[in-house]
Amino acid sequence: MQIIHSIQALRSWRAQHNDIAFVPTMGNLHAGHLALVAKARQQASQVVVSIFVNPLQFGVNEDYSRYPRTMEHDVELLQSMGVDVLFAPSVEELFPAPQSYHVEPPPVANELCGAFRPGHFRGVATIVMKLFNIIQPTIAVFGRKDYQQLTIIRGMVADFAIPVTLLAGETIRAEDGLALSSRNGFLSADERRTAPQLYAKLVEMKDLILAGAHDHMQIEQRAIDDLTTQGWQVDYVAIRDSSLAIPSPDSKQLVILVAARLGSTRLIDNIEIDS
Ligand code: PAF
Repeated sequence: MQIIHSIQALRSWRAQHNDIAFVPTMGNLHAGHLALVAKARQQASQVVVSIFVNPLQFGVNEDYSRYPRTMEHDVELLQSMGVDVLFAPSVEELFPAPQSYHVEPPPVANELCGAFRPGHFRGVATIVMKLFNIIQPTIAVFGRKDYQQLTIIRGMVADFAIPVTLLAGETIRAEDGLALSSRNGFLSADERRTAPQLYAKLVEMKDLILAGAHDHMQIEQRAIDDLTTQGWQVDYVAIRDSSLAIPSPDSKQLVILVAARLGSTRLIDNIEIDS
């Protein structure tokens, strides 16, 4: 595996290849990322993974500085997955001057996570656009765990006619149901024992809807109350259609999204429903 730090070197490598599957990450890799890499590996002769903790997508009081950086271990994992190139630029390489042009996503970026993390998806869309322009992948793989991110990147690719095919990788869970996330490492032992309640609540809500419950506001509010009683600080629980709009009575594909904090750790998860 080649480890490339500069845009120029990446471009020289890119000029010699034409079939590239790309997995963007912020590092601290776990089995969830590796599943995306495995999916990419099946799609193209060359696999590029990026590791870049993107300052544009963190708010002022968020965890940019304490976001886990585990480069040595990440390199070993990517090597074992047969990745061809790790693109690991520095902040100075990607932002030699402060970024003054940004991708402005549509209003859906200000809802759900965007309502609690103003500017987050603008930062995500901007860095993904920049990485796409540098790497020019034919395929890019994103996780379904970040459902809102996936929706916004899909919209960006369509709206800007970016010549890349997006693929979505399934959420990988621990045996107790907790979705794998780099932020799980921030949980104390007690919080880690509580954390699976989030997915359990999503499963319970899905079962209710499949059994015919249709008062979405009541289902959401009950879930918020239950999680709050269990010690969570809930940002939102939302039942949406697959495009993240408020469902109409005819919506057949739904997704339930949740974001909640245990102590100082904010976790997100979602579950899709095909009814
Ligand atoms: O999902 C992530 O890890 C990040 O949001 C991404 C897509 C790598 C952009 O920084």
